[in-house]
Amino acid sequence: MSLLERLGVEIPVVQAGMGGGISRHELAASVSEAGGLGTIGVSGAAAIRRELEAARELTARPVAVNVLLPFAHRDWFDAAAEADVVVTFWGRPRRRTLGVWIHQCGSVAEARAAEAAGADGVILQGVEAGGHIRGTLSALELFDRAASALPGDYPLFLAGGVAERGDVQRALEAGASGVVAGTRFLLSEESRAHPGYRDRLLAARETILTELFGAGWPAPHRVVANAATDRWLRADRGVPLLNRAINHMLAPGARHVPESVLARMVRAQRPGSRLLSPAGPTDDRPATLVDAGALYAGEAVARIDDVRPAAELVRELAP
Ligand SMILES: Cc1cc2nc3c(=O)[nH]c(=O)nc-3n(C[C@H](O)[C@H](O)[C@H](O)COP(=O)(O)O)c2cc1C
Repeated sequence: MSLLERLGVEIPVVQAGMGGGISRHELAASVSEAGGLGTIGVSGAAAIRRELEAARELTARPVAVNVLLPFAHRDWFDAAAEADVVVTFWGRPRRRTLGVWIHQCGSVAEARAAEAAGADGVILQGVEAGGHIRGTLSALELFDRAASALPGDYPLFLAGGVAERGDVQRALEAGASGVVAGTRFLLSEESRAHPGYRDRLLAARETILTELFGAGWPAPHRVVANAATDRWLRADRGVPLLNRAINHMLAPGARHVPESVLARMVRAQRPGSRLLSPAGPTDDRPATLVDAGALYAGEAVARIDDVRPAAELVRELAP
């Protein structure tokens, strides 16, 4: 029996935790209720608790919580432990919960480290994925390499470029226990992406891998172009040295910045700001962020041209 089956998840489709509040209870609960595994992506112990409780009101099925390790405090894990699965990302894999724990990885070495640290499974993220990008290989290539390096029955999930049923079938044929889809669920009715953000994604055919929106988190991320990328990215798509220096300088203190200060930073953010935070444009953030913020999206955005109810998406992805 697979890890998802043991949890009571019928369809091997996991909706990626999308941080900064893009995936909250509405989306996670809809995905889980439809038979997939929905994931909440919010910051702070109180927000995790609130969103998880709200999701439990909507579904009795399993729900996951995503925790971004560079920002997590101890009490986030206490709150996340109430979920059926805790998914961690970006950092040294370490067991922080007694329950089911899955770590998202960008390399074979990281997947092996997660397995050695006792993770119940790993997500192998390809470079074509949306959001922050951990590795350099395509999802299927990383998957194949990881599959040969880890025990045969170890649960492996594939993330990156999953937008249609064929993508799910290919991953399962390669031996995946399931898939993780972010961009496809970002363009669902229940995601909390700002309407202006969705419109840009629906029109987009290309993405950029950059470190531009890296204030406090200087890491590669895949986005769709907007006024900020037009303003700052050089012809070779490199980020100006001063922007990079600012991003790196802020990193050590980022996890200690209070939410109220972050909110003020985000309100002040303009395409011409050098201080470009990783906050994505949610529907409760200012519309200015659509041109001044990170429009996270994976390469699959080129194949998506509608916003649909999440339950319909789960049914369509079901192999
Ligand atoms: C808008 C957005 C936000 C994301 N935020 C997170 C996050 O907070 N934590 C995380 O583990 N992964 C995050 N990811 C990455 C996903 O977990 C996953 O690797 C990715 O979405 C898969 O590729 P796809 O977008 O092509 O489906 C995010 C992805 C997107 C598109």
